[in-house]
Amino acid sequence: MSRLFTPLQLRGLRLRNRVFVSPMDQYSSREGLATDWHFVHLGSRAVGGAGMVMVEASAVVPEGRISPLDSGIWSQDHARAFRRITAFMREQGAVAGIQLAHAGRKASTAAPWRGGGPLAPEDGGWVPQGPSALAFGEGYPVPRELGAADIDAVVERFAAAAGYAREAGFEIVEVHMAHGYLLHSFLSPLSNHRTDEYGGGLENRMRLPLRVARAVREAWPDELPVLVRISATDWVEGGWDLEQSVSLSGRLRELGVDLVDCSSGGLVPDAVIPTEPGFQTPFARAIRERVGIATAAVGLITEPVQAEHVLCTGQADAVFLGRVLLRDPYWPLRAAAVLGAEIRWPVQYDRARV
Ligand SMILES: Cc1cc2nc3c(=O)[nH]c(=O)nc-3n(C[C@H](O)[C@H](O)[C@H](O)COP(=O)(O)O)c2cc1C
Repeated sequence: MSRLFTPLQLRGLRLRNRVFVSPMDQYSSREGLATDWHFVHLGSRAVGGAGMVMVEASAVVPEGRISPLDSGIWSQDHARAFRRITAFMREQGAVAGIQLAHAGRKASTAAPWRGGGPLAPEDGGWVPQGPSALAFGEGYPVPRELGAADIDAVVERFAAAAGYAREAGFEIVEVHMAHGYLLHSFLSPLSNHRTDEYGGGLENRMRLPLRVARAVREAWPDELPVLVRISATDWVEGGWDLEQSVSLSGRLRELGVDLVDCSSGGLVPDAVIPTEPGFQTPFARAIRERVGIATAAVGLITEPVQAEHVLCTGQADAVFLGRVLLRDPYWPLRAAAVLGAEIRWPVQYDRARV
Protein backbone atom coordinates (compact mmCIF):
# COMPACT_ATOMS: atom_id res chain seq x y z
CA MET A 1 0.00 0.00 0.00
CA SER A 2 1.66 3.20 -1.14
CA ARG A 3 1.42 6.12 1.26
CA LEU A 4 2.12 8.57 -1.57
CA PHE A 5 -1.04 7.41 -3.30
CA THR A 6 -3.20 7.22 -0.19
CA PRO A 7 -5.72 10.08 -0.28
CA LEU A 8 -5.18 12.95 2.13
CA GLN A 9 -8.09 14.55 3.94
CA LEU A 10 -7.70 18.22 4.87
CA ARG A 11 -10.87 19.57 6.47
CA GLY A 12 -13.71 18.75 4.02
CA LEU A 13 -11.37 18.26 1.10
CA ARG A 14 -10.10 14.89 -0.08
CA LEU A 15 -6.97 14.92 -2.21
CA ARG A 16 -6.58 11.82 -4.38
CA ASN A 17 -2.90 11.45 -3.55
CA ARG A 18 -0.03 13.29 -1.82
CA VAL A 19 1.90 14.46 -4.85
CA PHE A 20 1.49 18.23 -5.00
CA VAL A 21 2.70 20.49 -7.79
CA SER A 22 4.92 23.09 -6.14
CA PRO A 23 4.04 26.69 -6.97
CA MET A 24 6.27 27.83 -9.83
CA ASP A 25 6.29 31.33 -11.26
CA GLN A 26 5.79 31.15 -15.02
CA TYR A 27 6.36 34.85 -15.80
CA SER A 28 3.65 34.46 -18.41
CA SER A 29 0.74 36.59 -17.18
CA ARG A 30 -0.59 39.78 -18.74
CA GLU A 31 -1.46 42.48 -16.21
CA GLY A 32 -1.52 39.65 -13.69
CA LEU A 33 -4.11 37.71 -15.69
CA ALA A 34 -3.69 34.00 -16.35
CA THR A 35 -3.10 33.14 -20.01
CA ASP A 36 -3.30 30.11 -22.33
CA TRP A 37 0.15 29.18 -21.04
CA HIS A 38 -1.33 28.66 -17.58
CA PHE A 39 -4.22 26.65 -18.97
CA VAL A 40 -1.86 24.24 -20.74
CA HIS A 41 0.86 24.20 -18.06
CA LEU A 42 -1.44 23.70 -15.06
CA GLY A 43 -3.88 21.54 -17.01
CA SER A 44 -1.09 19.16 -18.10
CA ARG A 45 -0.03 18.60 -14.52
CA ALA A 46 -3.62 17.83 -13.53
CA VAL A 47 -3.80 15.32 -16.41
CA GLY A 48 -0.50 13.93 -15.15
CA GLY A 49 -2.15 12.72 -11.96
CA ALA A 50 -1.04 15.13 -9.21
CA GLY A 51 -3.31 15.31 -6.18
CA MET A 52 -3.06 19.08 -6.05
CA VAL A 53 -1.81 21.63 -8.52
CA MET A 54 -0.71 24.83 -6.83
CA VAL A 55 -0.69 27.92 -8.99
CA GLU A 56 2.45 30.04 -8.75
CA ALA A 57 2.87 32.99 -6.37
CA SER A 58 -0.03 35.24 -7.29
CA ALA A 59 0.20 38.80 -6.09
CA VAL A 60 -2.49 40.28 -3.89
CA VAL A 61 -1.63 43.78 -5.19
CA PRO A 62 0.11 44.82 -8.44
CA GLU A 63 3.21 46.08 -6.61
CA GLY A 64 3.49 42.69 -4.90
CA ARG A 65 4.52 40.97 -8.12
CA ILE A 66 8.05 39.65 -8.48
CA SER A 67 7.98 40.86 -12.08
CA PRO A 68 5.48 42.65 -14.32
CA LEU A 69 4.78 39.22 -15.88
CA ASP A 70 3.69 37.65 -12.60
CA SER A 71 0.31 36.22 -11.84
CA GLY A 72 -2.11 38.29 -9.75
CA ILE A 73 -5.32 37.71 -7.83
CA TRP A 74 -6.37 41.23 -6.91
CA SER A 75 -9.66 41.65 -8.82
CA GLN A 76 -12.68 39.85 -10.25
CA ASP A 77 -11.04 39.93 -13.67
CA HIS A 78 -8.18 37.91 -12.23
CA ALA A 79 -10.63 35.47 -10.70
CA ARG A 80 -12.44 35.10 -14.02
CA ALA A 81 -9.22 34.39 -15.91
CA PHE A 82 -8.65 31.35 -13.67
CA ARG A 83 -12.15 29.87 -13.86
CA ARG A 84 -11.66 27.76 -16.99
CA ILE A 85 -8.35 26.51 -15.59
CA THR A 86 -9.69 25.48 -12.19
CA ALA A 87 -12.72 23.82 -13.83
CA PHE A 88 -10.42 21.77 -16.05
CA MET A 89 -8.16 20.75 -13.18
CA ARG A 90 -11.16 19.64 -11.17
CA GLU A 91 -12.51 17.65 -14.12
CA GLN A 92 -9.18 15.79 -14.16
CA GLY A 93 -9.51 14.91 -10.47
CA ALA A 94 -6.88 17.36 -9.19
CA VAL A 95 -7.51 19.94 -6.49
CA ALA A 96 -6.72 23.48 -7.62
CA GLY A 97 -4.67 25.56 -5.19
CA ILE A 98 -3.21 29.05 -5.45
CA GLN A 99 -0.37 30.70 -3.59
CA LEU A 100 -1.21 34.20 -2.32
CA ALA A 101 1.85 36.39 -2.36
CA HIS A 102 3.44 39.77 -1.93
CA ALA A 103 7.03 40.01 -3.13
CA GLY A 104 7.99 42.87 -0.80
CA ARG A 105 11.53 44.10 -1.31
CA LYS A 106 12.16 41.41 -3.96
CA ALA A 107 9.42 42.83 -6.23
CA SER A 108 9.99 44.59 -9.54
CA THR A 109 12.51 42.33 -11.24
CA ALA A 110 12.83 41.10 -14.82
CA ALA A 111 11.85 37.58 -15.90
CA PRO A 112 14.76 35.10 -15.57
CA TRP A 113 15.14 34.89 -19.36
CA ARG A 114 15.47 38.69 -19.42
CA GLY A 115 18.27 38.70 -16.89
CA GLY A 116 16.23 38.44 -13.69
CA GLY A 117 17.73 41.52 -12.04
CA PRO A 118 15.97 44.54 -10.57
CA LEU A 119 13.76 46.46 -12.97
CA ALA A 120 13.92 50.24 -12.59
CA PRO A 121 10.71 52.31 -12.72
CA GLU A 122 11.79 53.78 -16.09
CA ASP A 123 11.96 50.23 -17.48
CA GLY A 124 8.48 49.26 -16.35
CA GLY A 125 9.31 48.45 -12.72
CA TRP A 126 8.38 50.21 -9.49
CA VAL A 127 9.84 50.99 -6.06
CA PRO A 128 9.40 47.89 -3.90
CA GLN A 129 8.17 47.89 -0.31
CA GLY A 130 9.53 46.22 2.81
CA PRO A 131 9.59 46.22 6.59
CA SER A 132 12.70 48.41 6.62
CA ALA A 133 14.73 50.46 4.17
CA LEU A 134 17.19 47.62 3.57
CA ALA A 135 17.89 46.32 0.06
CA PHE A 136 17.79 42.57 -0.69
CA GLY A 137 21.35 42.70 -1.97
CA GLU A 138 23.87 44.69 -3.90
CA GLY A 139 22.35 46.33 -6.96
CA TYR A 140 18.84 45.94 -5.58
CA PRO A 141 16.73 49.00 -4.75
CA VAL A 142 16.17 50.16 -1.20
CA PRO A 143 12.51 49.42 -0.45
CA ARG A 144 10.06 51.93 0.91
CA GLU A 145 9.35 51.14 4.56
CA LEU A 146 5.69 50.29 5.08
CA GLY A 147 3.74 52.49 7.51
CA ALA A 148 1.01 51.29 9.87
CA ALA A 149 -1.78 52.08 7.38
CA ASP A 150 0.11 50.25 4.59
CA ILE A 151 0.40 47.22 6.84
CA ASP A 152 -3.35 47.23 7.52
CA ALA A 153 -3.91 47.42 3.76
CA VAL A 154 -1.64 44.39 3.19
CA VAL A 155 -3.77 42.36 5.60
CA GLU A 156 -6.96 43.47 3.85
CA ARG A 157 -5.56 42.71 0.40
CA PHE A 158 -4.57 39.16 1.38
CA ALA A 159 -8.11 38.58 2.70
CA ALA A 160 -9.65 40.08 -0.44
CA ALA A 161 -7.39 37.89 -2.59
CA ALA A 162 -8.69 34.82 -0.75
CA GLY A 163 -12.21 35.93 -1.73
CA TYR A 164 -11.16 36.26 -5.39
CA ALA A 165 -9.42 32.87 -5.22
CA ARG A 166 -12.68 31.30 -4.12
CA GLU A 167 -14.56 33.06 -6.92
CA ALA A 168 -11.95 31.65 -9.27
CA GLY A 169 -12.81 28.10 -8.17
CA PHE A 170 -9.77 27.30 -6.05
CA GLU A 171 -10.20 24.91 -3.13
CA ILE A 172 -6.86 25.54 -1.42
CA VAL A 173 -5.01 28.76 -0.71
CA GLU A 174 -1.43 28.91 0.46
CA VAL A 175 -0.06 32.05 2.11
CA HIS A 176 3.49 32.68 0.91
CA MET A 177 5.64 33.43 3.96
CA ALA A 178 8.87 32.09 2.41
CA HIS A 179 11.78 32.93 0.11
CA GLY A 180 12.47 36.45 1.34
CA TYR A 181 9.22 37.95 0.12
CA LEU A 182 7.19 40.43 2.16
CA LEU A 183 5.95 38.23 5.01
CA HIS A 184 9.25 36.38 5.39
CA SER A 185 11.07 39.72 5.42
CA PHE A 186 8.94 40.77 8.40
CA LEU A 187 9.80 37.50 10.20
CA SER A 188 13.55 37.66 9.82
CA PRO A 189 15.62 39.93 12.05
CA LEU A 190 18.04 40.37 9.15
CA SER A 191 15.51 42.26 7.00
CA ASN A 192 13.25 43.67 9.72
CA HIS A 193 14.84 46.46 11.74
CA ARG A 194 11.59 48.12 12.77
CA THR A 195 11.18 49.67 16.18
CA ASP A 196 7.34 49.64 16.26
CA GLU A 197 5.09 46.68 17.18
CA TYR A 198 6.04 44.92 13.91
CA GLY A 199 9.76 44.67 14.67
CA GLY A 200 12.16 43.63 17.41
CA GLY A 201 11.30 40.45 19.32
CA LEU A 202 9.83 37.33 17.74
CA GLU A 203 6.27 38.19 18.76
CA ASN A 204 6.48 41.54 16.99
CA ARG A 205 8.16 40.12 13.87
CA MET A 206 5.42 37.48 13.62
CA ARG A 207 2.63 40.05 14.04
CA LEU A 208 1.98 40.86 10.37
CA PRO A 209 2.32 37.26 9.07
CA LEU A 210 -0.06 36.08 11.82
CA ARG A 211 -2.54 38.87 11.07
CA VAL A 212 -2.48 37.82 7.42
CA ALA A 213 -2.96 34.14 8.28
CA ARG A 214 -5.90 35.01 10.54
CA ALA A 215 -7.53 37.26 7.93
CA VAL A 216 -7.13 34.67 5.17
CA ARG A 217 -8.47 31.91 7.41
CA GLU A 218 -11.53 34.06 8.20
CA ALA A 219 -12.10 34.90 4.54
CA TRP A 220 -11.78 31.26 3.42
CA PRO A 221 -14.60 28.70 3.79
CA ASP A 222 -14.42 26.63 6.97
CA GLU A 223 -14.61 23.36 5.07
CA LEU A 224 -11.56 24.18 2.92
CA PRO A 225 -7.89 24.16 3.97
CA VAL A 226 -5.41 27.00 4.26
CA LEU A 227 -1.71 26.21 3.83
CA VAL A 228 1.32 28.34 4.66
CA ARG A 229 4.71 28.07 2.98
CA ILE A 230 7.60 29.09 5.20
CA SER A 231 11.33 29.28 4.85
CA ALA A 232 12.26 27.22 7.90
CA THR A 233 15.68 28.87 8.03
CA ASP A 234 17.56 31.73 6.39
CA TRP A 235 20.72 29.57 6.49
CA VAL A 236 22.44 32.59 8.05
CA GLU A 237 23.72 32.93 11.61
CA GLY A 238 21.49 35.35 13.53
CA GLY A 239 18.65 35.05 11.01
CA TRP A 240 15.30 33.25 10.99
CA ASP A 241 15.75 29.62 12.02
CA LEU A 242 14.02 26.34 12.82
CA GLU A 243 13.29 27.24 16.45
CA GLN A 244 11.42 30.36 15.38
CA SER A 245 9.68 28.35 12.65
CA VAL A 246 8.44 25.91 15.28
CA SER A 247 7.03 28.84 17.29
CA LEU A 248 5.41 30.35 14.20
CA SER A 249 3.93 27.00 13.15
CA GLY A 250 2.39 26.53 16.59
CA ARG A 251 0.69 29.89 16.28
CA LEU A 252 -0.46 29.10 12.74
CA ARG A 253 -1.98 25.86 13.97
CA GLU A 254 -3.93 27.77 16.65
CA LEU A 255 -5.26 30.08 13.93
CA GLY A 256 -6.61 27.13 11.97
CA VAL A 257 -3.89 26.76 9.36
CA ASP A 258 -4.03 23.15 8.15
CA LEU A 259 -0.57 22.43 6.77
CA VAL A 260 2.87 24.03 6.83
CA ASP A 261 4.83 23.68 3.59
CA CYS A 262 8.49 23.69 4.62
CA SER A 263 10.91 25.37 2.26
CA SER A 264 13.96 27.46 3.18
CA GLY A 265 16.22 30.35 2.21
CA GLY A 266 15.69 33.26 -0.13
CA LEU A 267 16.05 36.10 2.35
CA VAL A 268 19.55 37.14 1.35
CA PRO A 269 21.44 36.43 -1.85
CA ASP A 270 24.63 35.10 -0.26
CA ALA A 271 23.36 32.36 2.10
CA VAL A 272 25.23 29.08 1.80
CA ILE A 273 22.56 26.42 1.27
CA PRO A 274 23.49 22.72 1.39
CA THR A 275 21.31 21.68 -1.54
CA GLU A 276 21.19 17.92 -1.85
CA PRO A 277 18.33 15.45 -2.27
CA GLY A 278 15.69 16.01 0.40
CA PHE A 279 17.72 18.74 2.13
CA GLN A 280 14.62 20.47 3.51
CA THR A 281 12.68 17.41 4.69
CA PRO A 282 14.18 17.54 8.24
CA PHE A 283 12.34 20.85 8.71
CA ALA A 284 9.03 19.26 7.75
CA ARG A 285 9.74 16.43 10.17
CA ALA A 286 10.70 18.69 13.09
CA ILE A 287 7.62 20.90 12.69
CA ARG A 288 5.30 17.92 12.23
CA GLU A 289 6.66 16.21 15.36
CA ARG A 290 7.05 19.22 17.62
CA VAL A 291 3.95 21.19 16.65
CA GLY A 292 1.55 18.41 15.73
CA ILE A 293 0.52 20.05 12.48
CA ALA A 294 0.46 18.46 9.04
CA THR A 295 3.49 19.36 6.94
CA ALA A 296 4.66 19.06 3.37
CA ALA A 297 8.26 18.48 2.33
CA VAL A 298 9.76 20.13 -0.74
CA GLY A 299 13.11 20.42 -2.42
CA LEU A 300 14.99 17.95 -4.62
CA ILE A 301 12.48 15.17 -4.16
CA THR A 302 12.64 13.51 -7.55
CA GLU A 303 12.27 9.73 -7.21
CA PRO A 304 9.07 7.81 -6.39
CA VAL A 305 10.77 5.67 -3.75
CA GLN A 306 12.33 8.76 -2.19
CA ALA A 307 8.95 10.51 -1.97
CA GLU A 308 7.37 7.37 -0.54
CA HIS A 309 10.16 7.15 2.05
CA VAL A 310 9.63 10.76 3.20
CA LEU A 311 5.99 9.96 3.94
CA CYS A 312 6.46 6.45 5.36
CA THR A 313 9.07 7.66 7.83
CA GLY A 314 6.65 10.27 9.16
CA GLN A 315 8.61 13.27 7.92
CA ALA A 316 5.64 14.85 6.16
CA ASP A 317 2.05 14.31 5.08
CA ALA A 318 2.60 15.28 1.44
CA VAL A 319 5.38 16.25 -0.94
CA PHE A 320 5.58 19.23 -3.23
CA LEU A 321 7.52 18.53 -6.41
CA GLY A 322 8.86 21.38 -8.50
CA ARG A 323 11.35 21.02 -11.31
CA VAL A 324 10.91 17.28 -11.80
CA LEU A 325 7.29 18.03 -12.73
CA LEU A 326 8.45 20.61 -15.27
CA ARG A 327 10.56 17.88 -16.83
CA ASP A 328 7.79 15.33 -16.65
CA PRO A 329 4.16 16.33 -16.00
CA TYR A 330 3.24 12.63 -15.92
CA TRP A 331 5.56 11.84 -13.00
CA PRO A 332 2.61 10.80 -10.78
CA LEU A 333 1.36 8.30 -13.37
CA ARG A 334 4.84 6.80 -13.62
CA ALA A 335 5.40 6.86 -9.86
CA ALA A 336 2.16 4.95 -9.28
CA ALA A 337 3.43 2.22 -11.60
CA VAL A 338 6.80 2.10 -9.80
CA LEU A 339 5.11 1.88 -6.39
CA GLY A 340 2.44 -0.56 -7.53
CA ALA A 341 -0.35 1.87 -6.65
CA GLU A 342 -3.70 2.35 -8.31
CA ILE A 343 -4.15 5.62 -10.18
CA ARG A 344 -6.77 6.70 -12.66
CA TRP A 345 -5.22 7.33 -16.06
CA PRO A 346 -6.90 9.81 -18.36
CA VAL A 347 -9.08 7.59 -20.55
CA GLN A 348 -7.66 9.31 -23.62
CA TYR A 349 -4.20 7.99 -22.72
CA ASP A 350 -5.21 4.52 -21.57
CA ARG A 351 -3.56 2.75 -24.51
CA ALA A 352 -0.21 4.08 -23.33
CA ARG A 353 -0.65 2.87 -19.77
CA VAL A 354 2.45 1.27 -18.23
C1 LIG B 1 10.60 28.10 -12.31
C2 LIG B 1 10.40 28.12 -10.82
C3 LIG B 1 9.51 29.03 -10.27
C4 LIG B 1 9.26 29.03 -8.89
N1 LIG B 1 8.30 29.86 -8.37
C5 LIG B 1 7.91 29.72 -7.08
C6 LIG B 1 6.77 30.39 -6.58
O1 LIG B 1 6.03 31.07 -7.32
N2 LIG B 1 6.47 30.24 -5.26
C7 LIG B 1 7.22 29.44 -4.43
O2 LIG B 1 6.92 29.34 -3.24
N3 LIG B 1 8.28 28.76 -4.89
C8 LIG B 1 8.63 28.86 -6.19
N4 LIG B 1 9.66 28.09 -6.68
C9 LIG B 1 10.27 27.09 -5.80
C10 LIG B 1 9.58 25.74 -5.99
O3 LIG B 1 8.21 25.80 -5.62
C11 LIG B 1 10.27 24.64 -5.17
O4 LIG B 1 10.13 24.95 -3.80
C12 LIG B 1 11.74 24.51 -5.52
O5 LIG B 1 11.92 24.46 -6.92
C13 LIG B 1 12.37 23.25 -4.89
O6 LIG B 1 11.70 22.09 -5.31
P1 LIG B 1 12.28 21.15 -6.50
O7 LIG B 1 13.67 20.76 -6.10
O8 LIG B 1 11.34 19.98 -6.53
O9 LIG B 1 12.26 21.94 -7.77
C14 LIG B 1 9.95 28.11 -8.05
C15 LIG B 1 10.87 27.24 -8.61
C16 LIG B 1 11.08 27.21 -9.98
C17 LIG B 1 12.04 26.20 -10.55
